[in-house]
Parts: sequence; structure tokens; C-alpha cells
Amino acid sequence: MEHFDKWQEYWDNYLLNKYGKQEVVSDADLYFQVARTIYKKPIEKPVFERILDEITQGLALKSMDILVDFCCGNGLFTYELKDKVSRIIGVDFSSHIINTANQFKKADNITYCLNDGIEFLRNFNTTFPGVRPNKYINNDSLAYFSVEQLEEILKLVVAISGDNFHFLLRGVPNADLMWNYYNTDERKQKYLTDKANGDFSNDGLGKWWTREEVENACAKNGVKCMIHDQDAELSNYRMDILVTGQ
Ligand SMILES: C[S@@+](CC[C@H](N)C(=O)[O-])C[C@H]1O[C@@H](n2cnc3c(N)ncnc32)[C@H](O)[C@@H]1O
Repeated sequence: MEHFDKWQEYWDNYLLNKYGKQEVVSDADLYFQVARTIYKKPIEKPVFERILDEITQGLALKSMDILVDFCCGNGLFTYELKDKVSRIIGVDFSSHIINTANQFKKADNITYCLNDGIEFLRNFNTTFPGVRPNKYINNDSLAYFSVEQLEEILKLVVAISGDNFHFLLRGVPNADLMWNYYNTDERKQKYLTDKANGDFSNDGLGKWWTREEVENACAKNGVKCMIHDQDAELSNYRMDILVTGQ
């Protein structure tokens, strides 16, 4: 199966391997640690604000909502959403990254959990008895999951929240647009060679998803989805997906 299975190791060591840094010590490092960069610089403030707006509006966040930030990273975005909802539960499987969240992006109504996202959902009702999230965000992270895993994620979300949920999966690499990303002969060749050699990490970008894969996973779980490509200002190779139970 074409799935890279060393993502936890990859993210645990990302800051060190890519930037030679052991720890986050500056604001910029927060962006570096979770690859929220463009041309190796932190994304610009207007882009950051736009992503937050899209999450807030896409999920129609309200003060009574309970939000799950699935693959929350170091809380860079999680923290900014804290005043829009009643509670946020974030999960990420990298201890290095969750430690940063607890150090720099703590708030009274945010709980950061160190766990694999799927394991977290499987145990949700035991860990958080009586808590019923109605909103879910997965920001720039679906690329690290397989089709089978997405099917399980949706099944578990339905088991936790019934049909009362909105789940926004942002920044999903769109297979139809991959040549916008591999836009030189050199890049294209590297992608094809890696694939031929059985390396499916795509240099850290993760899995390229087709719309059909997402639609089928949703159909299997009886949930709806709306898919649209991101605006060029954000990316010319990623799509956003809104999954709803109703
Ligand atoms: C590109 S970063 C995005 C982080 C955050 N959502 C943001 O937008 O800043 C991807 C994150 O996904 C996390 N991740 C990937 N696979 C995961 C899994 N199976 N369970 C939990 N976290 C995962 C990584 O540790 C990393 O923090």
C-alpha cells in the first residue's frame, strides 16, 4: 500500500532535521516546527488571519461549541480560536510539538492531548465522559493519513457526535493539482523517482488525495462533504473539505 508510516518520527524530529533547532525559542520557531512556512519563512500575518477566518466561518464557530483540533500541532492556530468557542480539545502525536503547545499556547479552555489522533477518537468517551464535541478542525494534516484511516476517523466522529457535527479538513493536497506543485522537470522527476523507490512521504508533503477518495469515505459513513480548491493566494495545489453529519 502506498502509505508512509513514519510520520510520528518525522514530526518529532522536524524542527531539528530541517532547521537544526532542538527547541522552540522564538515566535518564528513556532511556525517552523509545524511547517507553517512559505519559502522557509513563517507565513505572513494576512495569510495566518485568513486561515483563521476560514476556520471560523467554515465551521460557523459559536460560543457554545466544543471544538476538537485534530492534529493541533503546537497550538499556533488552536490558541487563536479559544475565544470563539466554549472549549477546545487538541490532539497531536508528537511529544515535542505538544510540549511546545503546553509551554507557549496554553489557555484555561484548551486541553492538549498527546496521542495518535485515531487512538484519541477511539478512547474519547472514556477520556472525556459526557463531553460531546460538535465541531472538528483538521488543518493541513489529512495528508498524513490513508484512505482507510479517514474512513475510521469519520466513523469515530459519527460515533462521538452523531449527526450533529461540522468537520473542516483544510489544506488537503489535491491529486488533480499535483503538477502545479511539481512544476519543474527536476521536481517532477524527484517525485516520480521517490515513488518508484517506494518512498511515499513525498518529501514531507504526504498523501495526494483525490476527490473520489474523500467522497467515497464520506459516503461509506453516511456523511456529506463539500470540496473546493483553495484560492491561489493560499495555495494552487490544496483543497478544503467540509464534512457534515446532517
Ligand atoms: C503540518 S502540521 C499542522 C499542525 C496544525 N494543524 C497547524 O495547522 O499548525 C501536521 C501535524 O499533524 C500531526 N499529526 C500527523 N499525523 C498525526 C496523527 N496520526 N495523530 C496525531 N497527530 C498527527 C503532526 O505531529 C503535526 O503536528
